[in-house]
Amino acid sequence: MSVTVRAPAKVNVQLAVGAARPDGFHDLANVFLAVALYDEVTVAPAAELKVTCSGPDAGQVPLDRTNLAARAAELLAARHGLEPAVHIHIDKDIPVAGGMAGGSADGAGALLACDALWGLATPREELLSLCAELGSDVPFSLVGGAALGTGRGEQLTELPVGGDFHWVFAVADGGLSTPAVYAQFDRLAAGADIPAPQPSPALLDALRTGDARALAETLSNDLQHAALSLRPALSETLSAGLAAGALAGLVSGSGPTTAFLAEDPTAAEAIARALISSGTCRTARTASSPAAGATVR
Ligand code: C5P
Repeated sequence: MSVTVRAPAKVNVQLAVGAARPDGFHDLANVFLAVALYDEVTVAPAAELKVTCSGPDAGQVPLDRTNLAARAAELLAARHGLEPAVHIHIDKDIPVAGGMAGGSADGAGALLACDALWGLATPREELLSLCAELGSDVPFSLVGGAALGTGRGEQLTELPVGGDFHWVFAVADGGLSTPAVYAQFDRLAAGADIPAPQPSPALLDALRTGDARALAETLSNDLQHAALSLRPALSETLSAGLAAGALAGLVSGSGPTTAFLAEDPTAAEAIARALISSGTCRTARTASSPAAGATVR
């Protein structure tokens, strides 16, 4: 017997960052949008916890206990006095690169899959709080669609989305450490008066009406300056996507993935081809949004 869960990638259409908190995290107004690139997480009983991975970027995925899917199985098992005796297989289609929440998708996917495999029927609220223990972005991987994340990004309010948006993701070579990007944000903001993060009413309106041009005008990421100062070459990727006709481009989350909003699927394909041939990224993928959250297949 096995259980398979499909979980989506995300893009942050707004990431407003407040001052560092005493616990080291930052208060956010984080508008998440799930995109239709998915990892599939399959769990089956085994003698002991084991993680395997397939897919184009499988070689870059850690298979030890640092993998969020393994940590999710251990966390859920510990809550119920069980042994996390499962084989977790991740069929990875989400590019392994910071900023797309691929690890968070695997964490939420493994949690939901183990819950079903072990017949625990954990209430949704409790699943969400277990997700928040795994990481700030993990609850959104469970919820999907679009949501405003407040607190450190884990407190979610679902948002209405009135149409499909078409994206291109430029996958950078190598990663960018999330804590390092936040630390750079703090350095760059030192001495400045940082306002409390607020969602943009114009951005929420663009999502609600499904208006890509209006969304393009309002995309914003307070971590972008920090990410670009650590990886200046990302500016060239952003320029290449805009030159290829993207309505807008921005760093996704803490990067180094960059996201481009396209007018329609045909434009998205053309922008992806142009980005690949520009030589400013490792590869580029297209995906539409919104997409459903983690779901048992
Ligand atoms: O919650 P997560 O494990 O994804 O966070 C990784 C790191 O990102 C944290 O240790 C912290 O340095 C930074 N972070 C932050 N504020 C947030 C979310 C993450 O400073 N709201």
